[in-house]
Amino acid sequence: MKTRIILLTLALSVCSIWAADVTGVWKAQFDTQRGLQKYTFTLQQDGTKVIGNASAEVNGAKRESEVKEGKIEGNTVSFVEPLSIQGNDLRITYTGEVSDHEIKFTRRVGDFATTEAVAKRESATAPAQPAPAARTVRIKAGKSEPIKDAEGNVWLADQGFEGGQTLERPDIQIANTKSTDLYRAERYSMDSFSWPVPNGKYVVKLHFAETFEGITGPGQRVFSYNVQGHEFKDFDVWVKAGGPMRAYVETVNVEATNAVIKVTFTPKVENPQINAIEIIPQSGGETSAVTPAPAIPAATSAAVNAAAATGPAATPVLQIDVGKVTGTVSPMLYGLMTEEINFSYEGGIYGELIRNRTFKANAQNPLFWNAVGDATMTIDANQPLNTALNVSLKLDLSKASAASPGGIANGGYWGIPVRPRATYRASFYARGEGFSGPLNLAIESTDGKTTFASATVSRISGQWKKFEVTLKTKKVEPSKDNRFVITTTQPGTVWFQNVSLFPPTYNHRSNGTRPDIMQLLAEMKPTFLRFPGGNYLEGNAINERFNWKETIGDVAERPGHRSPWGYWSTDGFGLLEFLQWCEDLHIEPVLAVFAGYTLDKKYLEPGPALAPYAQEALEEIEYVTGDTRTKWGAQRAKDGHPKPFKLTYVEIGNEDWFDRSGSYGGRFAQLFDAIKAKYPQLQLISSVGYEQPATLQVRSRRPDLVDEHYYRSQEDMQAHALDYDKYSRTNQTRIFCGEWATRVGSPTPNMAGALGDAAWMTGMERNSDILFMHCYAPLFVNVSQISGQNRSMQWSTDLIGYDALTSYGSPAYHAQKMFSTMHGDQILATDSRDIPTREGQPRAQRGGGTAPTRQLRQVFFDATRDRRSGIVYLKVVNEAGTAQRIQVQISGASKIKPEGEAVVLAAGSPNDTNSIGEPNKVVPRTETVTGLSADFTREFPAYSVTVLKLKAK
Ligand code: AHR
Repeated sequence: MKTRIILLTLALSVCSIWAADVTGVWKAQFDTQRGLQKYTFTLQQDGTKVIGNASAEVNGAKRESEVKEGKIEGNTVSFVEPLSIQGNDLRITYTGEVSDHEIKFTRRVGDFATTEAVAKRESATAPAQPAPAARTVRIKAGKSEPIKDAEGNVWLADQGFEGGQTLERPDIQIANTKSTDLYRAERYSMDSFSWPVPNGKYVVKLHFAETFEGITGPGQRVFSYNVQGHEFKDFDVWVKAGGPMRAYVETVNVEATNAVIKVTFTPKVENPQINAIEIIPQSGGETSAVTPAPAIPAATSAAVNAAAATGPAATPVLQIDVGKVTGTVSPMLYGLMTEEINFSYEGGIYGELIRNRTFKANAQNPLFWNAVGDATMTIDANQPLNTALNVSLKLDLSKASAASPGGIANGGYWGIPVRPRATYRASFYARGEGFSGPLNLAIESTDGKTTFASATVSRISGQWKKFEVTLKTKKVEPSKDNRFVITTTQPGTVWFQNVSLFPPTYNHRSNGTRPDIMQLLAEMKPTFLRFPGGNYLEGNAINERFNWKETIGDVAERPGHRSPWGYWSTDGFGLLEFLQWCEDLHIEPVLAVFAGYTLDKKYLEPGPALAPYAQEALEEIEYVTGDTRTKWGAQRAKDGHPKPFKLTYVEIGNEDWFDRSGSYGGRFAQLFDAIKAKYPQLQLISSVGYEQPATLQVRSRRPDLVDEHYYRSQEDMQAHALDYDKYSRTNQTRIFCGEWATRVGSPTPNMAGALGDAAWMTGMERNSDILFMHCYAPLFVNVSQISGQNRSMQWSTDLIGYDALTSYGSPAYHAQKMFSTMHGDQILATDSRDIPTREGQPRAQRGGGTAPTRQLRQVFFDATRDRRSGIVYLKVVNEAGTAQRIQVQISGASKIKPEGEAVVLAAGSPNDTNSIGEPNKVVPRTETVTGLSADFTREFPAYSVTVLKLKAK
């Protein structure tokens, strides 16, 4: 009996949940007795009713009929195409299973012929099919949820556009209007807008305002647009509105004769932009927020429902159709991004413990070194070790004696970590004058009272020589307030260079990485590492770029360089070390190559000026992938790694949208052509994503991927969590979200940051058919000194924090680890109802004033399934401060195991966070779940991220 009830519930939910929308233009070819018949179905759905027409072409003959008896039930659409052949009336019946972009049709002619074919959706936005009644339609460009204007009119969320991107500027004020909200978001760089209407006369109002800070005067954004044949040439909203931040409304009287209102946009200078569109029937009409609209993604329609909902809050419903797979979860989805920032390598993942080991951080002063006893230290440019390490530290020890030893001490990167029973490897170059040693090396407490490990080196000569020695600690308490000292009781003069101290490293590599941080990364199970930047790739000037050739080979022959984040890099952690880092984590490199743009806003002209750098990039790729018969493959072997590395993804530059000269198109093309010619298998990434103005995007070549960057507040992250649902499915270029973060919390994100991230990740995972890879940035921060001179943090809100001794994952780290380690390979169709929303208060206005509030979703989710195990991973983010009882309806499964597992990351407050002192304050907990079925209710805690694992067949 119980089983029957479950099955009945399941059957009912299958029928009732899925209200597919077939509105749009569909094309199919049926192989019939008369030959191949090419069909265009133009359908319009109104509730469960479907109207429209079918036009067919066979052997050059065309016919058109109005479809009859059209209806939609769940996912099944059916209609009849009436046909009269030689006086005989025929009924061609169509029954089809609808998914987002396809209808699998069975076509029956009378009783005698059955054919099957798949119709593809041509357009969801421009059906040339009359809508049932003329109504006023208001579209708010750039918003993912409907809004109300000052007069109480509802404006539908952004839809009906072809092409372009959306952008919100929630904080701005606009003159000339009572409805500022209409101008606080825009769509830009779109090609057109269309809306189905009954034929007749309309007034179309187009709302514009110049709100982009990059436009500072007239003539900087000029475009043309055409409304139903009415051309507006060289339109300049700055001129029309009389300046920036001022509303301008263009009113156009038009007539629809082909059941659609169409507006096209043509760029001239910068991108076209628009804030809102109104279509008003001239005979008056009914205003509706639920006017039959072009198909919009399920998640967006859920947002519409939520915002339109009034009355007491209904139980939110999440719906998953395990029978409907909408795409494949990208196998490369979760990765890591890294660069030298916040002491990420030196003082971070790089094992080296000595700060300023090459004495090049400052030309005059041996920064971070102290003299011990009566010794005197100076930077000496006359005794270089070699051309790379072209200075050394001169130590005058003339007063050293047994009673008063002299020497040098280094406090490391805010301490030297001491762990029990650990072996440290010390090395340095030295030469003496009137001095042969011995030198005593020790790791000791900062006050010099406790020595944890020591060793002795002798036979210093007049020639530079490398000395290496190990130091072993005994059973001691872990500590970090320690220093490394080299002292002697003998007088004389000694010069030092490349003074190094390594603790045990991950996988025991020499010149290797820090085990605790590597362990945190390994636990995330990433698939790739994007390096070496970020700004670190570009440098503040061309001689400060990441010059890979100077980062390989013997570390004592790497000159080092100043990082754009304000401190010296020895480049001890160079190209091969990045690759070995990948190897140790079993992940792929995403190699960013220098593309001729530097942070001083200078660029190399495409052509001969850039050619040496294109060559440099080719050689870099050869170093990574070439076999040992190649010049650079042989160099890699010489450097200790004969086996080539796997490389698939190469990014050309970093954030080249900062280059407003327009040179990136040419620079990209030059590197693209050079790389593709030699390495056609490589996937090349443009550093300008679709979030940037179209004029800056690469048009010269078709990138394999584009890199988008988003640093946002929690509210903004959540407001944009559905953005990728609206991206084109036909564009062959995939998206790499190569830097993103909810920037809340410092030095590392708090729970609010984790909630914003998790909401955003549901959108990325749900759309990972097109959103192919992503990585949070920045990854690391040394939290030892987060402010002041020589601070350890240059950029706040970083995923993983550490000091010299220990490390921890932020709440955002744990959220990300939950996402990256628990997902399937199939994206499941989802929908939702009655999602709660809250008012969000945008940041305070510049110059005072409060911006109006906006409605924000509070629950975000997505579902994936592992094809092999059948496990469904439902991820639910509840950003609300109260627990939410949520109903989960699962269709398309014959059996759901009642027991499952939930992994829950929850906090008592959005400000809760982890730190060195409290590394595990906010961490996920695993619990067993019972009572799972095709329709169950579960309480999701306040401020929580949940991964619910359930088994469905
Ligand atoms: O992640 C910090 C910085 O942000 C990166 O270096 C740069 O690419 C972006 O501007």
